Amino acid sequence: MTLSDLAVHLGPGSLAEQMAADVRAGLGGTPKTLPPKYFYDARGSELFDEITRLPEYYPTRAEREILGDRVEEVAAATGAQTLIELGSGTSEKTRLLLRALRDAGTLTRFVPFDVDPAVLREASTAVAEEFPGLDVAPVVGDFESHLGELPGGPHRLLAFLGSTIGNFEPDARAAFLAEVRATLTDGDHFLLGTDLVKSPERLVAAYDDARGVTAAFNKNVLVVLDRELGADFDPDAFEHVAVWDAEREWIEMRLRSVRDRTVHVSRLDLDVTFAAGEEMRTEISAKFRRESVEAELAQAGLRLTHWWTDQAGDFALSLSTP
Ligand code: AVJ
Repeated sequence: MTLSDLAVHLGPGSLAEQMAADVRAGLGGTPKTLPPKYFYDARGSELFDEITRLPEYYPTRAEREILGDRVEEVAAATGAQTLIELGSGTSEKTRLLLRALRDAGTLTRFVPFDVDPAVLREASTAVAEEFPGLDVAPVVGDFESHLGELPGGPHRLLAFLGSTIGNFEPDARAAFLAEVRATLTDGDHFLLGTDLVKSPERLVAAYDDARGVTAAFNKNVLVVLDRELGADFDPDAFEHVAVWDAEREWIEMRLRSVRDRTVHVSRLDLDVTFAAGEEMRTEISAKFRRESVEAELAQAGLRLTHWWTDQAGDFALSLSTP
């Protein structure tokens, strides 16, 4: 088996310190916000997995449909030797890409890149088993700050699937795409998954499902903060809210305090007051159009070469290159 050791690009303690700094900044703002990356502890990842199977949550199925139809085209267009996957590493979508690149005869290396060493280790072992001879070289890092540390080599395909890019605000998105561009060289490609603008009814339903799984996922961030920062948020004291912002074309998830109260965050030595009905933003999930994706890629110095959607036109995969 050719599974390299984990290359770690996070200093020890830096995750905890970053959480402390992020939460302090977010709770100090108006309105209060929390960064979505802290949803994904073990329970949060389980809940997200459940979300991807909900009838209302179409993005995962739509993206899988596109990949099922188009992976051979991706393989032919990229001739990729290295597949680098940002912020995932477990999914069967990755396998579709790996199989197509293997069958095209170009694939030699897989680099899963994720912030969670445990997720990465499991994913790497599973992929190494299914693809004997493949060099699996996992990297632990944060895709908002460690892209420069990705391994070089000709003909790399950098994949960022699932519309995770929708979590970034426009400025952060532009910075991220510029970073992607700076990392890539001639002959490399960028495969990006983006959820598309559609009726507000369907969008809101996807983020406020009938069974309340998304509500539990949203509130789980409070469980994480209570545990990691010694806070006393109490998830039952907040209600799940999902709204479509038609101007900015993004879904906003919020948590609404049901009453006046003061939350104590002991590890930050911080008291935070909430008014009854006050809403704290926990996630944005931006939705895209072909023109906006193409323009933002171009702004970063990336040229769109392919644009694929599912049959229903709900979701898009784009391929671009420096
Ligand atoms: C993993 C960020 C793509 O925005 O649709 C799902 C997260 N939040 N339901 C999304 C999410 C609520 C998801 N992303």
